[in-house]
Amino acid sequence: MKKQIVKSSNQKETFEIGRNFAEGLELGDTVAFFGDLGMGKTEFIKGICDYFRVEDLVTSPTYTIMNRYNGSGKISNHDIPIYHIDLYRIENEDELDEVGFLDCVYENNSIKLVEWAENANNNFPKNKYMVKIMQDSSEPDKRIIEIYSQELISEIV
Ligand SMILES: Nc1ncnc2c1ncn2[C@@H]1O[C@H](COP(=O)(O)OP(=O)(O)O)[C@@H](O)[C@H]1O
Ligand SMILES: [Mg+2]
Repeated sequence: MKKQIVKSSNQKETFEIGRNFAEGLELGDTVAFFGDLGMGKTEFIKGICDYFRVEDLVTSPTYTIMNRYNGSGKISNHDIPIYHIDLYRIENEDELDEVGFLDCVYENNSIKLVEWAENANNNFPKNKYMVKIMQDSSEPDKRIIEIYSQELISEIV
């Protein structure tokens, strides 16, 4: 997979797009999310977590910065730790370190889902995907979702 552009008409569709996207994820992968508040980053992540049979409550860790869920599924015989990270409140590199982001994001035995990835200052491993969610036209519920794999990111950066 390289670049994929998908349209979503409502919350449920974004959830389903996230769920389908999760099928391609492997242990160690990181997904960097971009898009304004309310675009549906967390909704997409809820779909990913559903695919991995997460039973914990999935919500944006805006104040706690990092949530860890217990996932499971066919890519591992063991539990699959899923880190849901929200960097909205992060202002500099020192804070990234303090909250444990720099330790976590390079870990190989988990999946990392990062909202407000622009605040990570490019501290990302190679095996990453990028998901960008934008408003589509003036209709309030329509979204354009662009999904890039690492091969493509290295071409455009
Ligand atoms: N197409 C859509 N996809 C996702 N969410 C949508 C869509 N249309 C409307 N919404 C609404 O937008 C909000 C998205 O919230 P959330 O996923 O928390 O956004 P973010 O994490 O990007 O801030 C929800 O209240 C949801 O009901
Ligand atoms: Mg969110």
